[in-house]
Amino acid sequence: MRIAVIAGDGIGKEVVAEAVKVLNVVGGLQLEPLPWSADYFLQTGITIPPDGYDTLRSFDAILIGALGDPRVPGNQHARDILLGTRFELDLYVNYRPVRLLDDRLCPLKNRTRKDVNFVVFRENTEGVYVSIGGRFKAGTDDEVAIQEEINTYKGVHRIVRHAFEYARANGLKKVCMADKSNAMTQGHALWQRVFAALKAEFPEVQATHMYIDALAMFMVQNPGQFEVIVTNNLFGDIITDIGGALQGGLGMAASGNLHPGRTSMFEPVHGSAPALAGKNVANPIGAILSAALMLETLGRRDDAVRIERAVEGAVQAGEGTQDIGGTLGTKEAGEAIVRRLA
Ligand code: NAD
Ligand code: IPM
Ligand code: MN
Repeated sequence: MRIAVIAGDGIGKEVVAEAVKVLNVVGGLQLEPLPWSADYFLQTGITIPPDGYDTLRSFDAILIGALGDPRVPGNQHARDILLGTRFELDLYVNYRPVRLLDDRLCPLKNRTRKDVNFVVFRENTEGVYVSIGGRFKAGTDDEVAIQEEINTYKGVHRIVRHAFEYARANGLKKVCMADKSNAMTQGHALWQRVFAALKAEFPEVQATHMYIDALAMFMVQNPGQFEVIVTNNLFGDIITDIGGALQGGLGMAASGNLHPGRTSMFEPVHGSAPALAGKNVANPIGAILSAALMLETLGRRDDAVRIERAVEGAVQAGEGTQDIGGTLGTKEAGEAIVRRLA
């Protein structure tokens, strides 16, 4: 298996280095680094080369750190590399598990591992992320800024179907769709229609709906009620940062950008955290668990479970970075997991 590794910017580089160590222990992968990042853009003027997406498609999977750098004000490189890959490779499923590994890490009072164990499926190719719109009279007091949200039948149907199929395949009984159809009466009426039609095809699943604002509240107040959540691109982005917090912090959260059966991309949920970069303090677990999701998707479930157990063991033993109450640096936290694996 050939894996493209894009370390990216800031703490992305540091956390990916640890995920690479873990992957080298489980073995059987040819890891090929790609330099695309803010540094590369500042040196060459290239965000991603013209054949970049074809290059990515030639790999079995992609592991990516984070993109975003204050030296690139508009973060054009991040849009081309990260969002560009999601669009060009049509990675329509953003799979973001929310799993608490140790009760001690939960920020909620009297909540334990059994209360924080669900997955979010975020639509990943449409919504407000398509960047359709424009500015009129920009820079004046008469400025008009338009940013359209796109919802297509195909796009909504395939992500909602994926959520139901995931529930069925994993013996889960609850799927909750979250939208804002009370205010976004056009686009989200489509989500309502698709959800109603699909729920009839999955009668064994208890299909519920929440407005996204209420869902955000319930994620904090009673997260134990959720098994599978499906929502649009922007709402999914926001609630998975809440999901990160429920797991002990953004540094713990993993994700996969999937097109089932095709080259998919795996990345921690967090960004490049410029203030933490280069200090050996970033938590590498989100990146390491993303590498485990990658192995699972590539059919190596046993290795994925092995990594998850090693991470869990390290977290429970307090062998982690400061954000999760430990005393280790990024490298030492990665190595603690590697030792458990070996
Ligand atoms: P961020 O996720 O980089 O950081 C937010 C805060 O979360 C940090 O200040 C830190 O307190 C904490 N944090 C995040 N990752 C951590 C880790 N591994 N260990 C410990 N603490 C961690 O979000 P931001 O500050 O809003 O964005 C910074 C840059 O990253 C921006 O340019 C943004 O666009 C970009 N970004 C990229 C991605 C991505 O590449 N997938 C995701 C989110 C943000
Ligand atoms: C994420 C990030 C990205 C997103 C940014 C960097 C564009 O926040 O992967 O969650 O909003 O999708
Ligand atoms: Mn995000």
